[in-house]
Amino acid sequence: MQQFAWREAYSVDIPQLDAQHRQIIELLDELGRIAHGGENDKLIAAALEKVTRYAHWHLRREELVLRVRSYPGYEEHKAEHEAYREKVTFLQANSHRRDLGIRMTNFLNQWWRHHILTSDQQYARFFRRQSGQ
Ligand SMILES: [Fe+2]
Ligand SMILES: [Fe+2]
Repeated sequence: MQQFAWREAYSVDIPQLDAQHRQIIELLDELGRIAHGGENDKLIAAALEKVTRYAHWHLRREELVLRVRSYPGYEEHKAEHEAYREKVTFLQANSHRRDLGIRMTNFLNQWWRHHILTSDQQYARFFRRQSGQ
């Protein structure tokens, strides 16, 4: 069962960023299945590492795209990414091994769904308007 599946509403109409969002959603789905399936700590930690590493890479790529395209909401958008990075670091440092997987899975699912549907959609709308779509 997919907990968090790609929908057209997530599209930002920038192919490389859509592909990265799809990949994040896929990795989160994999993490969710592992974390809720009662797998061992090592498997959960590996899945967690995979998604957080890829997600951090995506945030940097996205910031670069927004900067290169002179997005006026760049600073604000970057600050949201920054808050996310801080929260991930906090959870990693302040969760017991036993519930780190579930806590991170819940946080990541909720954060990514919300961020792609709201903040990422804001730049998508801006660029669509700019290109007269
Ligand atoms: Fe994004
Ligand atoms: Fe973003």
